[in-house]
Amino acid sequence: MLEVAKLNVVRGATHVLKDVSFSIAAGELAALVGANGAGKSTTLLTLSGLLKARSGSAILNSPDGPLDLLRAPPEKIVRSGVVQCPEGRQIFQSLSVAENLSMGAYTRTDAAEIKRTLDQVEVLFPILAERRSVAAGTLSGGEQMMLAMGRALLAAPKLLLLDEPSLGLAPKMVEAIFDVVARLKASGVTILLIEQNAAMALEVADRAYVLEHGRIVKSGTGTDLANSDDVRRAYLGVGGQEAI
Ligand SMILES: Nc1ncnc2c1ncn2[C@@H]1O[C@H](COP(=O)(O)OP(=O)(O)OP(=O)(O)O)[C@@H](O)[C@H]1O
Ligand SMILES: [Mg+2]
Repeated sequence: MLEVAKLNVVRGATHVLKDVSFSIAAGELAALVGANGAGKSTTLLTLSGLLKARSGSAILNSPDGPLDLLRAPPEKIVRSGVVQCPEGRQIFQSLSVAENLSMGAYTRTDAAEIKRTLDQVEVLFPILAERRSVAAGTLSGGEQMMLAMGRALLAAPKLLLLDEPSLGLAPKMVEAIFDVVARLKASGVTILLIEQNAAMALEVADRAYVLEHGRIVKSGTGTDLANSDDVRRAYLGVGGQEAI
């Protein structure tokens, strides 16, 4: 579904991504793990068209034919089904939960279809139905994450880009979020999941990539990487400093 090849991104004076290549098959959950500053968010922002790449390609196989995400405007990228759920949530604090959700559907026009997605989102996240009319800023951190994911789902994503959905959440909430991620995958959404919580990410991932200082240094199935000595030492807190 997505083939990223030799992606290079420079931000300010920093060469952040260096020949990054990876691919995601339709229906798959791919995880990109790595430490702070490795370039994970930069990868997502580039795929969403919000950052310019210096070189490389990111070919999305869409029903309308192949689209190079590095050369398409953000609007067109969203319309082709690539939807980002950004780091730090970025919800509109003073707007209601319902208003935040409806913004996710801005590229869609079929009201009946939008209503159907909204019903699905409220089944997935009952708390959003309960809090429909309150200001989003009054939600807890975990609830705001659910709202951000719900809003992304309202765009009817084919490829969902999730940037650290578990960041800063209590263990129970982390489990709830990962449960939803697994259910989304089961419903057929292709997912690129970015996480520092490598243990949880590798557990749900079909395929995983380790990003270090802007380079992919390891790849394999989620299970392969979870069992790899290097990965266990560096990211799973096994045989070294606790990393999670
Ligand atoms: N606006 C910017 N200008 C210049 N450099 C930046 C900018 N934003 C990020 N960087 C640098 O790019 C590198 C990668 O940052 P990025 O946000 O992609 O990392 P990350 O893997 O998402 O980290 P984290 O886990 O902390 O979110 C870092 O060295 C960072 O300092
Ligand atoms: Mg980041």
